[in-house]
Amino acid sequence: MSVTATDHTQPSPAQDVQAHTPPISSAHHDSGAPFRGRVIAMMNQKGGVGKTTTAVNLGAALARLGHPTLLIDLDPQAHLSLHLGVDHDQITHSMYDLLTDAEVAASQVVWQVAENLAVLPAEVNLAGVEAELADRVVTGAAQNVLKLKLMPLLNRVSGVGYRVSQGSEPAHEQKPDTRTPIPDTRYQFVIIDCPPSLGLLTINALVMAREVIVPMQAHFLALQGLGKLFETITMVRQGINPQLRVGGVVLCMHEKQTLLAGEVIGDVKRFLEEARHTDQPWSEAVVFDPPIRRNIKLAESPSFGKSIFDYDAACHGAQDYEKLARSVAAHRVGK
Ligand SMILES: Nc1ncnc2c1ncn2[C@@H]1O[C@H](COP(=O)(O)OP(=O)(O)OP(=O)(O)O)[C@@H](O)[C@H]1O
Ligand SMILES: [Mg+2]
Repeated sequence: MSVTATDHTQPSPAQDVQAHTPPISSAHHDSGAPFRGRVIAMMNQKGGVGKTTTAVNLGAALARLGHPTLLIDLDPQAHLSLHLGVDHDQITHSMYDLLTDAEVAASQVVWQVAENLAVLPAEVNLAGVEAELADRVVTGAAQNVLKLKLMPLLNRVSGVGYRVSQGSEPAHEQKPDTRTPIPDTRYQFVIIDCPPSLGLLTINALVMAREVIVPMQAHFLALQGLGKLFETITMVRQGINPQLRVGGVVLCMHEKQTLLAGEVIGDVKRFLEEARHTDQPWSEAVVFDPPIRRNIKLAESPSFGKSIFDYDAACHGAQDYEKLARSVAAHRVGK
């Protein structure tokens, strides 16, 4: 496939095609207005706590509720892209190209995976970004690359992306020529899946985001981990992104019958409560309701390249993420 950078002043071939392609959601097709959506970083430096599972299924749930949503895979493990069925054989440009090649625009990287749901996919080469950008850390430019490269897509008046259907036919079984350019979308939610570290990729997410959501498991030492995370957020807020706030904590793989879970949740709630009416970035943070129960279907669905809603829409995992999406949509911090 060959995709050209979008010229915003001239109708592109993609726009010609768009004229014949029904908009995915014409209600959100208000090109020209600046981006007003919510940008949320899914972040926890601890590994395996549910960041990617939450990014995918919260995103899919928001999309199903009618909110155009863009997922960004900022983890070199590329689990989010795999979970959504984006096969790396089909990717011409990925997050690595976007962040390291000045010629590559976000509109060349974006994929439509379901109605209202798009993704900027990653591959394992994303790990090389930190080294590529190292010489720009001193000037502060390296921390800003994601934001710089993303805003044209979020504010865009035109753009090119590719539609991959999710559900019936896995993306990797589709022929490249079955992908069609997608119309412009005004995203209401942008969700960034961060790696389990506090390196340059995560800092880029924090510079771009307005909100952080922390998926966590109710483990011993979970609160200490939260403290460390909030220190980083405070530093980014003081230094580069004064608008950054913590939206809340999502409890993942929750087992409500355990004593430990109850105690840890109590501690986290008290910790957040103490910051109310202060100027801490987490002064408006909540423990989102509901917690996400441990559910085997959630662990199975990534191997099928499907969100939980396409894998088993009736399971507990799907129910929990649908309710979580309503809670997140209703809780907007830093208004
Ligand atoms: N509610 C749940 N019930 C059962 N399994 C779950 C649940 N949430 C996540 N998992 C599984 O737990 C594992 C870790 O989840 P996930 O990949 O979302 O964590 P992560 O924080 O993104 O990990 P990493 O730090 O490596 O990026 C995965 O195998 C996932 O399928
Ligand atoms: Mg992950």
